[in-house]
Amino acid sequence: MQQLLLLFLLLVGLRPSSSQTNSQDVAALQALMKNWRNEPQSWTGSTDPCTSWDGISCSSGRVTEMRLPSMNLHGTLSNTIYQLSALTYLDLSNNPNLGGTLSPDIGNLKQLTILILLGCSFTGNIPKEIGNLTKLTFLALNSNKFTGGIPPTLGLVSNLIWLDLSANQLSGEIPVSPGLNQLLSTKHFHFSENQLTGPMSESLFNANMSLIHVIFDRNKFTGPIPKSLGLVPNLTIIQLDQNQFSGPVPNSIGNLRNLMELNLASNLLNGTVPDLTNATQLNYVDLSNNNFASSPAPGWFSTLTSLNTLFMDNDGLTGTIPSALFSFPQLQQVSLAKNAFNTLNMRGNISSLLRVVNLTNNHIIEENVDPSYNNSLILTGNPVCLDNINLCTLKQKQQVPYATSLGPCGAISCPTDQSANPVTSQNCLCTNPFQGLMIFRAPAFSDMTNAATFQPLESTLAQNLSLAPRSVALSNVEFSPGAPLTLTVKIFPVSGTGFDRSDIIRISSALVNQTYNAPRTFGPYSFIASTYFPSPSGKKSSMSTGAIIGISVACFVLIVALVLVAIYALRQKRIAKEAVEQTTNPFASWGAGGKDNGDVPQLKGARYFSFEELKKCTNNFSGIHEIGSGGYGKVYKGTLANGQIAAIKRAQQGSMQGTAEFKNEIELLSRVHHKNLVSLVGFCYEQGEQMLVYEYIPNGTLRENLMGKGEMHLDWKKRLRIAVGSAKGLAYLHELADPPIIHRDIKSTNILLDESLNAKVADFGLSKLVSDTQKGHVSTQVKGTLGYLDPEYYMTQQLSEKSDVYSFGVVMLELITARQPIEKGRYIVREIRTAIDQYDQEYYGLKALTDPAIRDSAKLVGFRRFVQLALECVEESAVDRPTMNDVVRELEIIIQNEGAQLLQSGSVSAEQFGNAKGRDPYAEHLPMKDESSSSTFDYSSVYSYSAVEPK
Ligand SMILES: *[C@@H]1O[C@H](CO)[C@@H](O)[C@H](O)[C@H]1NC(C)=O
Repeated sequence: MQQLLLLFLLLVGLRPSSSQTNSQDVAALQALMKNWRNEPQSWTGSTDPCTSWDGISCSSGRVTEMRLPSMNLHGTLSNTIYQLSALTYLDLSNNPNLGGTLSPDIGNLKQLTILILLGCSFTGNIPKEIGNLTKLTFLALNSNKFTGGIPPTLGLVSNLIWLDLSANQLSGEIPVSPGLNQLLSTKHFHFSENQLTGPMSESLFNANMSLIHVIFDRNKFTGPIPKSLGLVPNLTIIQLDQNQFSGPVPNSIGNLRNLMELNLASNLLNGTVPDLTNATQLNYVDLSNNNFASSPAPGWFSTLTSLNTLFMDNDGLTGTIPSALFSFPQLQQVSLAKNAFNTLNMRGNISSLLRVVNLTNNHIIEENVDPSYNNSLILTGNPVCLDNINLCTLKQKQQVPYATSLGPCGAISCPTDQSANPVTSQNCLCTNPFQGLMIFRAPAFSDMTNAATFQPLESTLAQNLSLAPRSVALSNVEFSPGAPLTLTVKIFPVSGTGFDRSDIIRISSALVNQTYNAPRTFGPYSFIASTYFPSPSGKKSSMSTGAIIGISVACFVLIVALVLVAIYALRQKRIAKEAVEQTTNPFASWGAGGKDNGDVPQLKGARYFSFEELKKCTNNFSGIHEIGSGGYGKVYKGTLANGQIAAIKRAQQGSMQGTAEFKNEIELLSRVHHKNLVSLVGFCYEQGEQMLVYEYIPNGTLRENLMGKGEMHLDWKKRLRIAVGSAKGLAYLHELADPPIIHRDIKSTNILLDESLNAKVADFGLSKLVSDTQKGHVSTQVKGTLGYLDPEYYMTQQLSEKSDVYSFGVVMLELITARQPIEKGRYIVREIRTAIDQYDQEYYGLKALTDPAIRDSAKLVGFRRFVQLALECVEESAVDRPTMNDVVRELEIIIQNEGAQLLQSGSVSAEQFGNAKGRDPYAEHLPMKDESSSSTFDYSSVYSYSAVEPK
């Protein structure tokens, strides 16, 4: 009996846990856990939430904090969460698969001071009971799918400092009395990207408010901007762009002495351009696209010396652009496109930080520009360009956005979703960084190239989040006026293994609750995390040493075996190849055509075919085998003796090329092997015949497909893939072929599409070896195709790889427009350049020029960047063009972002996207096509030498 009692006491003593946490809280959490997938492992392993559950903190046995940001939770908030009545801190942010509605019971959580639900999928109304949470100081519901109005009861949350409702589908007017005018402590009103309507009440703002940021862009507000906005004394950011505000800009706004950023672009504002003379702290002003009365440049163009960015496109400005503007010491960017300025004066003290002056489509007839100014000056569409073409083209410099240098690790390529870890730069192990998008809705600067701006962001992130030096890397910096500045931040673990749950909670939490303060010029930010799969908690490996040794030995044995197999395979391949080369000696009848005796061609891998062989496989070149014809002859489809389907190009009498060119093409083609280049199977040169035998590419040329002749609908994603495929083929020619090869005739009729829509570059008849010269460019007689021809090559006869880059840029423009490069006397490059409107977020001003087949369907992710890249490729001056490797890299980023956007918009899940497994997300989406249906393609231009010589 005594023993039993002892045992009982022991048992009680061993279970202190269940008695520590309030039983109602335990029950609530356990019910919540049933509702969720992917809750932390620690939640299932232990019964006491207060001592051992990740993300839970307690006080006196009650659950007071729940921090589960970026945990990939799936599910809804079961009603039991509202029983956690002692909660002061609730952060479930960045769980995109956590959704459902918020219950009115949220009003029970009366102790809450911080509520962060950003980056989830919550729907329905914001319940009015949120007004019961009077202790709330921080409320972030941004990036969800909330609908309905802003509840007037929010005005009762009088301690609120941070209010972020951006990027939802909220509608209706902003409530006042009761409503948001009562929030005297609030510093942040962030309501961007909703469907809020106006008019905005004059009583929304008053002089007792503490607001510093008023960010209402991209809504549907109408009516005048309230004059009372100018009474709020501490305002630093006013962002009202992309609404339908009308009437004049209240004068009071020009007297806000702390104002750093004023963005009123793309509204219906009228009256005179506002007087900003007294807003002496202004850094960033955007007043573009309003209905202001036509006027000369306002006086503050010469006095507002704090400015770094001035955007006033399409505002009816006339006369002279004052030269004082360009001497403001912080000035980075000026855009005054689509005005009626006639004189440009840029003399004297030009700001050393000035990067871009955009004066597209003005009436400038006179310019006086200091020759020391070496950055971008865009004068396209001005009369002055008619006389002085150099001025209008040579001053457009590409702006390469900042990206953190990864040192030696930058050269390491890792599987999708992994990056080489720069923290331990000796080994650069591929690792899973924790990453996400930082969105800065109101940066007070516009130059994205300056390391001095971005490096403080890196260093303060590392310091503030207690991370190792070099563990923060920024990339994909993007900004255009009217859109937020976005960038990808990658955070690397110190060791190669990845972060565990508690690391992720700590880092993600500090980024969503604004513990991390970005440098002041960046303004407020939000952080949208990508899905992360944490390593198991407890940083040590769970494997025993014995197991590790066992696995290592097994791996070693496996590697040795693989190496032996590889050596054997290579040897067999060489033996086989030698055998083939011996039986089909291409030199045997070389020169049989008579006088064209050249050196024997140097062939690698291409076969020699006898006339009889090819005659047989095309049924004596019968009509049913014919798949194309043109001035040079005909192309036949035939099945070779080994079963391979081939396209056989047979030159006709009179269009035979010289032996030199024929030889050139077979030599080149036989040397290059890449999945994005059409490969030569062999050739025939006997009995007065010249025939080239290519691999058969079933889906025709890019041009045919763009003209809708194919059955394939080329949507945007497929076009991106075609672009990157052909760019890779070209990059291979330029960078990896030895010696490098310049194609010289890149055009949409020389890009073929196979059954999986892989792009293959064809027709090497004009190609040149770079080794033909010492200096990397070749002086040759100009050849190529009109519309694709590099103007610098045309003028100087100096050929380089950059001439192919130019032609490729034209092909990129064709992918956008589906037009021929020259149509009805109009040149696509020029058409695009003058049509660009940087405020058009969706189409970049190119809606009318965009191929209707892509324009009206899905969102064109990366469209702007794609256009910009194409325009960099067609820069007049070869040195300003990117290399094909740069182009491939850029296109891959665009495609990655395309995938990421799909992921964010929920049209594919992380699993489908292959996020965890590192698969190519595009591999599965492409339809396969039956090749027999495509034999109607006109091959006439495909395998032809259709180059023209410009006059
Ligand atoms: C400005 O717009 C308002 C509202 O659309 C209109 O009533 C007013 O007449 C306009 N004023 C001027 C000067 O055009």
